[in-house]
Amino acid sequence: MEIKFVKRENLKAKPDEYNLGFGKIFTDYMFMMDYSTEKGWYDARIVPFENLSIHPASTVLHYGSEIFEGLKAYRREDGKVQMFRPMENIRRMNTSAERLCLPEIPEDMAYEALMTFVSTEKDWTPSAPGTSLYLRPFMFGNDETLGVHAVHNATFVIIASPVGSYYKEGINPVRIMIEDEDVRAVRGGTGYAKCGGNYAASNRAGERAAQKGYSQVLWLDGVERKYIEEVGAMNVMFKIAGEVVTPMLSGSILPGITRKSIIELLGREGIKITERLLSIDELEAAMENGTLEEAWGCGTAAVVSPIGELCYKGVKYEVGGGKIGEVTQKLYDTLTGIQWGKVEDTFGWTVEVK
Ligand code: PLP
Ligand code: COI
Repeated sequence: MEIKFVKRENLKAKPDEYNLGFGKIFTDYMFMMDYSTEKGWYDARIVPFENLSIHPASTVLHYGSEIFEGLKAYRREDGKVQMFRPMENIRRMNTSAERLCLPEIPEDMAYEALMTFVSTEKDWTPSAPGTSLYLRPFMFGNDETLGVHAVHNATFVIIASPVGSYYKEGINPVRIMIEDEDVRAVRGGTGYAKCGGNYAASNRAGERAAQKGYSQVLWLDGVERKYIEEVGAMNVMFKIAGEVVTPMLSGSILPGITRKSIIELLGREGIKITERLLSIDELEAAMENGTLEEAWGCGTAAVVSPIGELCYKGVKYEVGGGKIGEVTQKLYDTLTGIQWGKVEDTFGWTVEVK
């Protein structure tokens, strides 16, 4: 694939690595390419980071045809930069594209786009503890007509942002509100796809939770409001009476890459993890009788995030004494160890960016 490079006149000053926050600072360049049914993917280019110009009737603005991914590049102690399981994100993006009737990108093309772009922006990968270069590939339907139909024109973009921790709490436990009114997704809907609409639908409950001091909401299934699904930006795992449980992939939750990695990590450690239906009644009973030993969320942005409090129907339950649990800590250490190149990657998950 030919990737055109448009050089910018002046590079931006690099930010203070100890004050990055999440997703507020963007690098010098972005990757772009366009699609039409006639031409396929065309005009791959790396251009200065700038505002996009789109037609006011563009599909994405009216009908929400948008999908995205999130992955990170990490600065190792030896100065090299590596990405974590990028092919997993590429595959999931194509699954999302299929669901939203957006065009898929051949895997080798998407990989080359990502690699070339990250290699261009490698110097932006911070090295302060807990920081990384967050990569946000996204695609939107860009037909210039108000008719509702599968997309004929689309744009794919990758932007990058040096980030610190997603939650202000960092690795300290977060407080999560269990949502019993709004639902995020239903089976048959778009829950398993990473599309912007899922997040738009989540915002009302998220705001209500935030006003009460909670970081995010924990969703129940959209049909019976009975089974635990996932948190706003992460999958969720519980240790109940010695058993590690995570909601099974039912079609309405995002198949997280961190979730998948943790399942593989626990398997190697010989710790059993069960993917199954977990009802709110079972969780409530475990919170009441003290058998809920640990709870954590996991995701690219959130990493492994201990949950110190769950609130359901106005009742607050402290989890694990409000402190990070043993399994949570071990998972955090091993996973971040592999990601930052401090622990040997025997899984072959990391890919060096040259
Ligand atoms: N669930 C939702 C709704 C998310 O937004 C994310 C973040 O991407 C995850 C789960 C975790 O997925 P991953 O581990 O692939 O980042
Ligand atoms: C990620 O973890 O990459 C996500 O996409 C979460 C995001 C909504 C901030």
